[in-house]
Amino acid sequence: MSRPQPKPWIAQIHAYVPGKSRSASGKPLVKLSANENPLGSSPAALAALAEAHVAADYPDPDARTLREAIAAVHGLDPDRIVCGTGSGELLHCAVQALCGPGDEVLASRYSFSLYPLLAQKVGATPVLATDDQYAASVDNLLAAVTERTRVVLLDNPNNPVGTFLPPSEVERLHAGLPSDVLLVVDEAYGEYVDPVLQRAGFELAAAHENVLVSRTFSKAYGLAAERVGWVTGAAHLIDLVNRMRGAFNVSVSGQKAAIAALGDQDFVVASREHNVRERTRLVEAIAALGNHGITACPSEANFLLVHFDGAVTAAQALEALSDAGYAVRHLPSQGLPGSLRITIGKTEDMTRVIATLRGLCGEAA
Ligand SMILES: Cc1ncc(COP(=O)(O)O)c(C=O)c1O
Repeated sequence: MSRPQPKPWIAQIHAYVPGKSRSASGKPLVKLSANENPLGSSPAALAALAEAHVAADYPDPDARTLREAIAAVHGLDPDRIVCGTGSGELLHCAVQALCGPGDEVLASRYSFSLYPLLAQKVGATPVLATDDQYAASVDNLLAAVTERTRVVLLDNPNNPVGTFLPPSEVERLHAGLPSDVLLVVDEAYGEYVDPVLQRAGFELAAAHENVLVSRTFSKAYGLAAERVGWVTGAAHLIDLVNRMRGAFNVSVSGQKAAIAALGDQDFVVASREHNVRERTRLVEAIAALGNHGITACPSEANFLLVHFDGAVTAAQALEALSDAGYAVRHLPSQGLPGSLRITIGKTEDMTRVIATLRGLCGEAA
């Protein structure tokens, strides 16, 4: 009997694999596997969510008030902003609008695991440029550009490594690209970066016809459940993304919560400061385990990629952390069988994570 058949490129892909929140035996774990905000959400955003609203009506399809609030916080033009069901939707839109079979989507060897799927979903070919000690290398990305390259996806800070390319390097990458190649600077972790460096992406997007910058409310704003993200860029790119996105893509509650969260910048600052403090503590603890072959990549994000090259393996550490009640991210499918990505959690959780790693190495907690 015949049945509906997927396109050949869809038959080859798998669904996106999210971070785990349970042990192999089904025990619920503290989730340090999805880079969520350990401080939760801004009280103002929670209050907005708790407010009764009419569920029978569609949301504002253009998220106008939200776009104006984003524009006011960042000094942008609201007409150069599109909001989406998370920034993930908008990354999809950009790739879908510009790529098809025969085209290439370029990213760094270690980057957001969604990127190859975005290319494959439209029949395009994902190309991964060689890294430089796990980080994105501008030289290697530029060397991998061909006449088939349509989109370059750069997560900055990077996921899963956490490294940050300084504005001068992002500018050099952009300057080396043909003008008909779109550069998407994915700043999902942008609010965790030193505030002095946070505007560079927006300035690049405002100055050129082939740059989109994406941001999300899922990380430092603590609203991952509400699925709200946005992009900014040239008018013709905004027009493209608007044609591709879902019609009523940001829910009423998502728009309300995001607007309230933008009004509580103290929460974002507190989230960044907590992250720097606890990440520094984890970095120092890992450095003290260097003689056990445990090291970490430098990170500007809300997680640390930890490498296990000694007697204690990543698989053992994953199990010990799970026994201690923590889910972290093991990424063998991304070519990182010897590493774990650990989200920076609450202070007490980081204390227990550090004690677990020290205990595994036979060091006093
Ligand atoms: C680099 C990067 N970009 C984009 C996203 C998507 O986030 P959202 O769709 O929740 O905005 C994530 C989520 O983990 C991410 O790590």
